[in-house]
Amino acid sequence: MQYSDKVLKHFKNPHNQGVIKNADAEGQVGNPVCGDVMKMYLKIRKQKTENRQQEYIENIKFETLGCAAAIAVSSIVTDMAKGMTLDKAMELTKDDVIKELSGLPEAKIHCSMLGVDALKEAIKNFKNQN
Ligand code: FES
Repeated sequence: MQYSDKVLKHFKNPHNQGVIKNADAEGQVGNPVCGDVMKMYLKIRKQKTENRQQEYIENIKFETLGCAAAIAVSSIVTDMAKGMTLDKAMELTKDDVIKELSGLPEAKIHCSMLGVDALKEAIKNFKNQN
């Protein structure tokens, strides 16, 4: 299986790995087929703009029990989502993630879904609580 240099870089040196204590929201997803599990923690900042209140991802961390692609996906998704509004982050797709990683092998496409799903799960949980 051939991984891009970018996947290998994020796998060997993942960004934003760990836990946020007192996170504003958490989201966890698992893939029943491969058994991989991904959890994301969000710290949200609310900021008033001229006519409405925006909510930003101020900090984001992940814990992933999974394959090399799942680790690389977690790392890049957290990099991409940091600083985004919740609305923008909800628009992220697996194709955005795959593009940002300069591609993923066909057998590893589902790993990119896990990253996007964990992020969206955390955002949904935040919206449900607030
Ligand atoms: Fe399932 Fe990577 S093999 S998330």
